[in-house]
Amino acid sequence: MPVISFANAKGGAGKTTAALLLATELAHQGFRVTVIDADPQRWISQWCEISGPVRNIDVVSEVTVASLQCHLRELAPRTDYFIIDLAGARDAIVTTAIGLSDHVMIPVQGSAMDAKGAAQILDLLSFLKDKANLDIAHSVVLTRVTSMVTTKALLTIKGLLAARGVNVLDTPIGERIAFKELFETGGTLHTLDPAKVSNLDKARENAGAFAKEVLGLMPVKITRSAASRLFGLGRNAA
Ligand SMILES: Nc1ncnc2c1ncn2[C@@H]1O[C@H](COP(=O)(O)OP(=O)(O)OP(=O)(O)O)[C@@H](O)[C@H]1O
Ligand SMILES: [Mg+2]
Repeated sequence: MPVISFANAKGGAGKTTAALLLATELAHQGFRVTVIDADPQRWISQWCEISGPVRNIDVVSEVTVASLQCHLRELAPRTDYFIIDLAGARDAIVTTAIGLSDHVMIPVQGSAMDAKGAAQILDLLSFLKDKANLDIAHSVVLTRVTSMVTTKALLTIKGLLAARGVNVLDTPIGERIAFKELFETGGTLHTLDPAKVSNLDKARENAGAFAKEVLGLMPVKITRSAASRLFGLGRNAA
């Protein structure tokens, strides 16, 4: 049960949107997803409240540093993927969640190229590697990209991050009405009405490609995820 967290110390980078897109796509593909809403603003919890039950998705709210490990341990047997949505901060819960993650996704707004918040998370990952011997896989995902700037932004940021050895996903998350709409109406891209939401097909395509690329980053055979290493749960998918 890999743990994928979404982190960027800067507010509004697109963490919650990207986390929800990944969660709903994985659930659509039949995986059992537990979203840990570790943001006191509770955006994903609110999405869950307006959505009602969504097949294959559980949302855990009111998470603390102390309770995070308990949630992972208790829900591991019925979870294929944990997705943790973090606040735009660099605090104890962000550090704890990152330390428990198999992969950290760092959303960065492609057009604004404001990567300072991302750099703080990269520094934290370096710190965990140097001081705690925790080498946590991580990737930057460009968000809110418009087709006009995709290539230029992607190339520029890839170049900047390559120097630090950071992977940037080939699939940026576009600026799309449908992604906003999920938080207004609840549900998933697969339950929204194409007659009411413009370019829903493109949004589905984009979210599907994003989820596919993230899945491709996971180990093919998951023998010991971060949670199992820490709690000795020993799920063996081999
Ligand atoms: N790909 C996108 N297309 C359209 N709107 C987007 C997209 N990504 C984010 N937004 C909008 O930008 C705003 C901030 O996005 P989001 O809440 O996902 O960021 P965040 O990093 O989780 O913010 P916070 O740090 O406050 O938790 C929201 O209003 C959201 O609807
Ligand atoms: Mg958020």
